[in-house]
Amino acid sequence: MSNIARHVAIIMDGNGRWAQERGLKRVKGHERGAETVRSVTTFASNHPEIEVLTLYAFSTENWKRPKMEVDFLMRLLNRYLKNEMNTYIKHQIRFETIGDLSRFPAALQNQISLMKERTKEFKRLTQVLALNYGSQDEIARAAKSLCEAKKEISVKSLQESIESSKFGPVDILVRTGGDQRLSNFLLWQSAYAELFFTQTLWPDFNPDELETIISQFKQRTRRFGGI
Ligand code: IPE
Ligand code: IPE
Ligand code: MG
Repeated sequence: MSNIARHVAIIMDGNGRWAQERGLKRVKGHERGAETVRSVTTFASNHPEIEVLTLYAFSTENWKRPKMEVDFLMRLLNRYLKNEMNTYIKHQIRFETIGDLSRFPAALQNQISLMKERTKEFKRLTQVLALNYGSQDEIARAAKSLCEAKKEISVKSLQESIESSKFGPVDILVRTGGDQRLSNFLLWQSAYAELFFTQTLWPDFNPDELETIISQFKQRTRRFGGI
């Protein structure tokens, strides 16, 4: 039986380089990147196997960037959510997030809540945006909550307490932009993910390339420690 691409997770990297290669400001790359988010999400919603698409949009380490770039990303996200509401409704996509939203501007937090509320019944695809997300942070938060509740720490109890594990294990993990590292993304859920690294910068990535990755994934042998 061939592998099922139920959960696809993507580290959307290379926006800044895409813009710089064209003599544009880095933020232009983020703008183009938002268009790729739309096309890849729509593709995933029409794909027979993909149930969850998790996209790394802002890491707990991305606060280190210049304030101007961080502020731009916040505004872009707000604008994206407002503009795309109809796309989510049309394609029946449930919108979810992982990460600590409390550091985001109140207006953005409200927009995120509205989007979750309006799309919560949809079942074609769940799109999970990782926002102010870091795996180490969420594993530490889960361990802390277990300790405070005086519960045993085990793989099972951690699994149940880690915020992102409700979306299940990752089957395919893609990183665009040419670097081969995980940058603190879904470390727990990717224990047995199949990894794919592409040189393509995120604004140039497209559904055809994802389709190619899925067909390569089908050819791989997943053993999960067995033989
Ligand atoms: C990824 O693109 C988007 C975010 C991290 C928000 P980058 O902004 O990291 O682009 P590069 O890696 O500098 O090209
Ligand atoms: C990872 O990209 C985070 C996101 C795509 C949101 P980075 O550009 O922040 O990763 P590093 O710094 O190159 O590892
Ligand atoms: Mg980067």
